[in-house]
Amino acid sequence: MLYDASPDNILKAAGLIANGEVVAFPTETVYGLGADAFSASAAKKIYQLKKRPAKNPLIVHINSFDQLRLVADLSSSRRIYEQLELLKRFWPGPLTVVLPKSDKIPPEVSAGLSSVAVRYPSHPVAQELVAAAKTPIAAPSANRSGYISATRAEHVDRSFGEELEMILDGGPCQVGLESTIVSLLDEVPTLLRPGAVSYEELAESLGEVKLSSNLSISESSEEKALAPGMLSKHYSPRTPIAFLGANRSSNGYPAKTGLITFGYNKELKCSSSFLVVDELSRSGNLNEVAHGLFAALYEQDQLGLDLIVVEQCPDKGLGRAIMDRLTRAAKEE
Ligand code: TXA
Ligand code: MG
Repeated sequence: MLYDASPDNILKAAGLIANGEVVAFPTETVYGLGADAFSASAAKKIYQLKKRPAKNPLIVHINSFDQLRLVADLSSSRRIYEQLELLKRFWPGPLTVVLPKSDKIPPEVSAGLSSVAVRYPSHPVAQELVAAAKTPIAAPSANRSGYISATRAEHVDRSFGEELEMILDGGPCQVGLESTIVSLLDEVPTLLRPGAVSYEELAESLGEVKLSSNLSISESSEEKALAPGMLSKHYSPRTPIAFLGANRSSNGYPAKTGLITFGYNKELKCSSSFLVVDELSRSGNLNEVAHGLFAALYEQDQLGLDLIVVEQCPDKGLGRAIMDRLTRAAKEE
């Protein structure tokens, strides 16, 4: 059920989390399916709801730097401590950091790994929910495993409906793509998932940052995946996705084709060969593109189209995250 994210409803949702239940809530990146990060049985409910493979760990959400020591073990490595200090300027915000886990995080949350992915979100509802629940919150994106992440409360509702007792509606997520994930487990930090905190910004703060080979989807396989959830085929609508201009002229598309544009190619939206057109930006503004991308894919995927054609953007900054998600979505099984 959808509830507006009023203080009363946040308290009610926090009560459910404290009782070991799962609720959906907004963050600045995408909606999350949250449960008490210290409860193995609550974590199991998330996996069941999402139909998520048990080996794909969850992100733990905190609402202060103080809470870090509850979820991560920062005592074992001076190097990790120092690198984390350099990353704190991105928190609260759309950055997740993989750290050695504390003993309090059950293996159900970390999928048996000795590390934990930690995020300090900037969304006030997410922060208030963690505060009111009095516990860090483990939360994956609020979509069925393998499907597009939800950036609107109504998309969470359409995916889970009655299965979720409470969905806190905080409106559309501002960023619209999942957080950047960087791992500090190896000496040279590794970017596991690009997001709104860009590779370039991370490299500027940390010095050297490795790009996970997993980002190159031609090489990726489930076994090699560093962020275990970063499978090559992911974020996928049921409708096939193709990039604009890739091996076809626009009159070579099936009759029922949708188009998603970024505002680079001005003539496109006049084309009559598309059944539906979503113009995410008029000027190639990638913040606008990221903000609207998953919602547009979600809506077009409901229309029974034969194909969704998407414009491309340069593969740097936020564009790297956009192209990463789209390349995965476009990958054929
Ligand atoms: O923006 C986000 O990060 C959203 C919001 C709700 O915070 N959450 C999110 O969670 O995208 P999820 O579960 O959909 O994606 C988490 C990713 C998965 O690919 C998972 O494999 C990876 O993080 N991950 C989690 N723990 C990890 C760990 N210890 N080591 C490496 N990767 C990890
Ligand atoms: Mg996800």
